[in-house]
Amino acid sequence: MIRLQNVSKSYGGRPALKDINLHVALGEFAFLVGPSGAGKSTLMRLLYREEVPTAGNVFIGGVNLNKLGSRQIPLLRRRLGIVFQDYKLLPRQTAYDNVAYILRALGVDEKDVRKRVTSALNVVNLEDKAAAYPDELSGGEQQRVGIARAIVNGPPVLLADEPTGNLDPATSLEIVQLLARISERGTTVLISTHDHTIVNTMRRRVISLKQGEVITDVDSGMYEVEMSVES
Ligand SMILES: Nc1ncnc2c1ncn2[C@@H]1O[C@H](COP(=O)(O)OP(=O)(O)OP(=O)(O)O)[C@@H](O)[C@H]1O
Ligand SMILES: [Mg+2]
Repeated sequence: MIRLQNVSKSYGGRPALKDINLHVALGEFAFLVGPSGAGKSTLMRLLYREEVPTAGNVFIGGVNLNKLGSRQIPLLRRRLGIVFQDYKLLPRQTAYDNVAYILRALGVDEKDVRKRVTSALNVVNLEDKAAAYPDELSGGEQQRVGIARAIVNGPPVLLADEPTGNLDPATSLEIVQLLARISERGTTVLISTHDHTIVNTMRRRVISLKQGEVITDVDSGMYEVEMSVES
């Protein structure tokens, strides 16, 4: 579902990703881990075509993102659910309207919007907060709205870059368990994190980046705490 072939990405001549080869299958759930600056966000941005690789090819569902014209990018984004560390909710819209936003933008009729938004809020267990505004919700609840928004269009792929970066440990684990349940429904889920506890609790596939390279990629993996030898 997600494939990177010999992908490199440099910023102003400085490599952020070096010759990455990676495949995440349909319905798979994987963590992308690594220290700050390892290239996790860069890899995520390549997947949703916020950035283009300096070399190599990125495929989503068999589509080579290098070959997408600018008019096809919205089509790609519709096939991707994206969850952000800072939620990126519209502050003056209710939870319901935040989730409905994309469907309305696509011209889905309001009866269908209601069905799909209610179902997405159900998945994240937030039906009772549909009328709340973001500032009336806890961080974990806001992130659940963010997840409902990401899945409301039924995307085959869900990308989450540090989705628990602003949450306490217990809430973080709940959010990741929720994402794992979503993957069980057939969605391919890739989560970047530097939270060792979560990764080591979940025991799922762990793709580990360091200085722009995949250093390990293991099923049922752990995220070892590295001894720092920085000067
Ligand atoms: N827009 C940019 N312009 C220039 N350099 C960038 C840009 N984005 C990232 N980089 C550089 O690319 C490297 C990888 O950054 P990236 O943000 O992908 O790391 P990360 O693994 O997501 O780190 P963190 O855990 O801190 O979020 C870093 O050296 C960073 O400084
Ligand atoms: Mg990052």
